[in-house]
Amino acid sequence: MEFKELGTTEIKVPEIGFGTWQYRGGSEPLRKAIELGAFLIDTAEMYGTEEAVGEAIKGRRQEVFIATKVSGNHLRYEEVLRAAENSLKRLGTETIDLYQVHWPDPSVPISETMGAMEKLVEMGKVRFIGVSNFYLKNLQEAQACMTKHKIVSNQVKYSLVNRDIEEDMLPYCQKNNITVIAYSPLDRGALSSKPLLRNRRALGVFQRVASETGKTMSQVALNWCISKPNVIAIPKTDKVKRVIEDCEASGWSLSPQQIAAFDGALRSPSP
Ligand SMILES: NC(=O)c1ccc[n+]([C@@H]2O[C@H](COP(=O)([O-])OP(=O)(O)OC[C@H]3O[C@@H](n4cnc5c(N)ncnc54)[C@H](OP(=O)(O)O)[C@@H]3O)[C@@H](O)[C@H]2O)c1
Repeated sequence: MEFKELGTTEIKVPEIGFGTWQYRGGSEPLRKAIELGAFLIDTAEMYGTEEAVGEAIKGRRQEVFIATKVSGNHLRYEEVLRAAENSLKRLGTETIDLYQVHWPDPSVPISETMGAMEKLVEMGKVRFIGVSNFYLKNLQEAQACMTKHKIVSNQVKYSLVNRDIEEDMLPYCQKNNITVIAYSPLDRGALSSKPLLRNRRALGVFQRVASETGKTMSQVALNWCISKPNVIAIPKTDKVKRVIEDCEASGWSLSPQQIAAFDGALRSPSP
């Protein structure tokens, strides 16, 4: 497993972590992920999987980097503090490594939310602050009202077929050393399966690249994500076998020609 720095924290996180939205795999897949070095586990108060994560990491807390999120419905100051407290209990830990604002709520002043996030760091309950589903304007506003800490990450949808962030968010994050945590990097499984990938041209490229590299479609799709500077990916799987497969997306590189072939077949239309 290869690692990347989280924001400017000097903390290295694996370039493949695992998400837990709709996760039903029990403890084994997450334990296998930790064993293979994919020790970043992403959850959220609204996923209903924090207890399962807590169970899976019992006795292994020091080996794991826990990322969770406060729901965009709980962004008032006191609500953020309460949500963090509840997540800590469900996770069975004393510290959240990365606490993310799940999505922005325009009806709550962002300064109020980020003030609470900073308070949680001062209280020692959170190590690093991140956001999710923030547009560039949201991210800049959130950072501008913070007094002591930096936003280290933005968790956003990014995959071979969802490339909207390339317009402004990705270059901004790369320039400012903010980690992009790519969610749905397999497009919810569609990039893992020949029958589900409807774009025939893209399927042709996938099959050629998979055969040239000796990798599976999932590994190619994940490697494409993490080939971008500052990007890590968090696929979700309930299966130990697929955890192993997804971890093996790290540690090798697509060639520039293979990346260009995907760009030709899949680039989203220019705005
Ligand atoms: N911040 C947000 O708003 C937000 C939104 C969406 C997701 N997320 C995060 O991102 C994580 C991942 O996104 P996602 O769950 O939407 O989609 P994803 O990771 O792109 O795809 C998950 C699907 O791919 C399948 N899969 C995984 N590895 C595979 C493999 N090697 N071969 C074949 N199929 C494979 C899984 O099936 P099995 O489980 O059956 O293996 C599952 O159906 C979430 O769990 C969550 O933590 C965040």
